[in-house]
Amino acid sequence: MPPLTFAVLLHVLYMTFRLITAVADQCSGGTNIFTEIPENSPFGTLVSYLTFFGDRESDTIHLRLSGPDAEWFYLDGKAVRLNASEEKVLDREMLESPVLMVSFTCVEDGFSPVEYRIIVQVMNENDNKPQFRDETTLAQNISELAAVHSVLFSTQAEDADGDILMYVIDSTSADAKYFRIDLPNSGKIVLARALDFETKRHLEVIVHAVEMNTKERYNSSARIHVNVMDGDDQYPQFLPCNFLSHDGVSVCVSPVYTTNITEREIKTGPLLFLPGAIHAEDGDHELKTPLIYSILAGTDHGYFHIDNITGAITMLRPVESRIHTPIYSLSIMASQVNDAKKYTVTEVRVRVLAANSHPPHFGQAQFQAFIHQDDNTASLVLTYSGRVLFLNVVDVDFADGFNPLIHYSLKRQSNHSQLFQVTPSGLIVARTNRLHALERYTLQIIARDEESGETASTAVYVEVLRPGQADLETIDEDSSQIA
Ligand SMILES: *[C@@H]1O[C@H](CO)[C@@H](O)[C@H](O)[C@H]1NC(C)=O
Ligand SMILES: *[C@@H]1O[C@H](CO)[C@@H](O)[C@H](O)[C@H]1NC(C)=O
Ligand SMILES: *[C@@H]1O[C@H](CO)[C@@H](O)[C@H](O)[C@H]1NC(C)=O
Ligand SMILES: *[C@@H]1O[C@H](CO)[C@@H](O)[C@H](O)[C@H]1NC(C)=O
Ligand SMILES: *[C@@H]1O[C@H](CO)[C@@H](O)[C@H](O)[C@H]1NC(C)=O
Ligand SMILES: *[C@@H]1O[C@H](CO)[C@@H](O)[C@H](O)[C@H]1NC(C)=O
Repeated sequence: MPPLTFAVLLHVLYMTFRLITAVADQCSGGTNIFTEIPENSPFGTLVSYLTFFGDRESDTIHLRLSGPDAEWFYLDGKAVRLNASEEKVLDREMLESPVLMVSFTCVEDGFSPVEYRIIVQVMNENDNKPQFRDETTLAQNISELAAVHSVLFSTQAEDADGDILMYVIDSTSADAKYFRIDLPNSGKIVLARALDFETKRHLEVIVHAVEMNTKERYNSSARIHVNVMDGDDQYPQFLPCNFLSHDGVSVCVSPVYTTNITEREIKTGPLLFLPGAIHAEDGDHELKTPLIYSILAGTDHGYFHIDNITGAITMLRPVESRIHTPIYSLSIMASQVNDAKKYTVTEVRVRVLAANSHPPHFGQAQFQAFIHQDDNTASLVLTYSGRVLFLNVVDVDFADGFNPLIHYSLKRQSNHSQLFQVTPSGLIVARTNRLHALERYTLQIIARDEESGETASTAVYVEVLRPGQADLETIDEDSSQIA
């Protein structure tokens, strides 16, 4: 084949093809479209113009938008516009994806459909405020032992627009001074000063979350309630406390427990103490840590035992004699079971009393006695048998009847008690120079056992004789004398 013929053929073919495409392909000439649109844009906002060759009004072509996001758009001539409404706002935060994809199909009669893609990126606007997680009111339980400068808890807010947030403590909130935020973006709340359950159990603070990178700087607030929980920072205390004030702090001073026992007797059951049963409690009243009791010192001879759980003290054996040890002083300790270094110590005093089954008594219901008026400042009152009046009180609890703890006194009602005195050994001394002959006195005498508190009483009739007068009337009477 000559070369010319071949060239002519090519040209014919080319011309034919051009003619066909020019007439038939109105849908060609378009491109895929990439564009963007701000969220919240109103109905009718122009998204893009379509660029295919054909005329939108032509009867021979059909246009169609399809795909899951197609209902966001509609065609207006060769323009693609936004289909939004008050009920159907283009909200970037509500979309599954911020990129909308639609297929645009152009069909011309007698030709294969042509498809283009429209890809629309929805641009973010700052249309959301930060929002605290959970409720805006948060409750936190924090131990009073939490270390100052440590992170107590985190507050977290979210911003649907993805804005960067900064957290600020509201310095006007009630207990703001207890809290601090060291890293403004973290929401980590740091303890700025020590907590104390015993003085403050509840704190309140307001935290703001503020947008950092927006011009609106939207913020929201959370009111946070902090319950201060009791921590183990108090020592045990024996009760009842004797409260003493020291530097404005009320200090619990443990009581000294006292009781009485009787020599040669064993008491069964726990000893009863004043001011009350031996009992200690954890100073951290909310924790009430279990305590354990022990005797530290004072029971070398093994007379006493303390129940390590109840604190009750019992006798193991009787005290033989009170002469050697009239009083036992025990140091007792209560310590925390979970921390032996937290303890308290107090004293228990056990007095050993003489066995006392009999009250003291005077040998006589009354005594007759006399004294001579003279110039001496003091003289002993005598019996009519001429001996010194000796008010011996008998206490059968003692082998020789003599109780060394008897104390004598004159009853107030005795007339002229200032003229007479009773000595500890039971003698009556009179101020003779202030007495007058022929006077008669009635003295009421009381003898008291200082240990048991038991008393006996008697009357002493004293007659004042003239100087030198003989006690003639009763010379044979010896009834007043107690040997
Ligand atoms: C616009 O969207 C609404 C709701 O999805 C739909 O009912 C309506 O047909 C859409 N309008 C157009 C022109 O596509
Ligand atoms: C705080 O403690 C109380 C009991 O004291 C409890 O009822 C509450 O659930 C606790 N709250 C938190 C946030 O742990
Ligand atoms: C929070 O926003 C309000 C206005 O909405 C403003 O008055 C206040 O100062 C803001 N607070 C902070 C901590 O930015
Ligand atoms: C011990 O006895 C004394 C009297 O001697 C009394 O005052 C005290 O109350 C007694 N103590 C107890 C705990 O009974
Ligand atoms: C308490 O005493 C009992 C018996 O006296 C003993 O078995 C127990 O181990 C003691 N408890 C403690 C914690 O020491
Ligand atoms: C003392 O009191 C008795 C009666 O209680 C009375 O008989 C006597 O005269 C009084 N003596 C003097 C000195 O007042």
